[in-house]
Amino acid sequence: MGSQLRQKIRIVIKNTDNPDVDDEWVIEVDRGVNLRRILLREGMSPYAPIPKRINCGGRGLCATCGVWIEQGESVPTHWHDKIGNRFGYPRLSCQIIVNDDMTVRLIPEKWIWGKRKPKRQSSSNLKST
Ligand code: FES
Repeated sequence: MGSQLRQKIRIVIKNTDNPDVDDEWVIEVDRGVNLRRILLREGMSPYAPIPKRINCGGRGLCATCGVWIEQGESVPTHWHDKIGNRFGYPRLSCQIIVNDDMTVRLIPEKWIWGKRKPKRQSSSNLKST
């Protein structure tokens, strides 16, 4: 059954840097939830240590909540996310509404924003939400 017909959406979270969980964590969520909120709820912060305490609270202003979307990436709609995606920077988790199964890779090694992807993925396979 495709994820479009199921009520629950599956999110695979990789590279959690959380010693209490495996490297890959799978959760099921309701369609339409905000990715940043789900990550925080699960105790898997998208932030580096300093921005974890000081950030914009999910308003799309600080760009510190970036994650890599390895599968199920949607077309960015927020202006900052569009620019960041175009130049190969992580996606803002606070600006992603989860409408389909996805695989998310956290970036625990980042200091604040996270580096540009060395070899940028094509955005031709992004899904519209
Ligand atoms: S939390 Fe500030 S841009 Fe996402």
